[in-house]
Amino acid sequence: MSSEPSPYVIEAEHFAVGYGERTILHDITTKIARGSVTCICGGSGCGKSTFLRSTIGLVPHKGGSVRVLGEDVNSLDDDARSEFLSRVGFMYQNGGLINSLTVLDNLKIPLMAHTKLPDDVIEELVYHKLAQVQLTHAVHLLPGELSGGMLKRAGFARAMVLEPELVLSDEPSAGLDPVTAADLDALMIRLKEELGMTLIVVTHDLDSIKRIADRIVMLDKGYVKFDGPLNEALNCDLPLVRNFFARASNEGHPGVQSLWQKYRD
Ligand SMILES: Nc1ncnc2c1ncn2[C@@H]1O[C@H](COP(=O)(O)OP(=O)(O)O)[C@@H](O)[C@H]1O
Ligand SMILES: [Mg+2]
Repeated sequence: MSSEPSPYVIEAEHFAVGYGERTILHDITTKIARGSVTCICGGSGCGKSTFLRSTIGLVPHKGGSVRVLGEDVNSLDDDARSEFLSRVGFMYQNGGLINSLTVLDNLKIPLMAHTKLPDDVIEELVYHKLAQVQLTHAVHLLPGELSGGMLKRAGFARAMVLEPELVLSDEPSAGLDPVTAADLDALMIRLKEELGMTLIVVTHDLDSIKRIADRIVMLDKGYVKFDGPLNEALNCDLPLVRNFFARASNEGHPGVQSLWQKYRD
């Protein structure tokens, strides 16, 4: 392990990854600062999920380098890799829970895999995490018994259960109504501040981007096309960036938003 904590959670230089013969990310150079919230944006299929997965070494490396939490992800031995993975939480789009296990048992898995704590301590830690996402009442429920918003909160709790420095989240607001999406954003930001985490979030939800992002990294065809603060992104003249935000704002469907408003009141 590196002795000095790096000020960056990600340092990618001409980083390239792909599947089989196919290169998906051709040349990614970016630095993501510790403590920030970065939204990874771009059209469908441009490699956003691939980027997230590649930062934990899940996509074959094809060139350049990436350091995550100061570690060269692609050259860790098994022990170092396990230690590294305990420092990074991954929040999957569908919550990432095992359907046949209760919320409690799902959240115990990372603690059992990465610590030698006794079972009662593990359960206490799980209850504590579930309290942080207001889900203690759901501890004995199965994932299939949770609402969409609860499932995301359980997935977030699972991603955070080892108190990681970095949480990666793939489209957290997908499938949620606007009110539940806003609540989830508020929860993620509050806990990010309280726990001193860094968040990297793949999203094309403009409302969400405006609420949470410090920085935008926009990908296109495997290259970084924009990398800068939210304000600069919103005022950027590049057609790709302008079109992305124009489309993203239409995807909010103002008509649907007002329907939600009507039925909530
Ligand atoms: N496991 C995989 N094996 C082969 N190709 C994949 C795999 N996952 C994604 N791809 C391909 O990589 C490209 C980028 O996918 P992805 O990263 O999921 O895009 P995004 O998240 O931006 O929609 C797509 O063409 C997709 O078909
Ligand atoms: Mg994706």
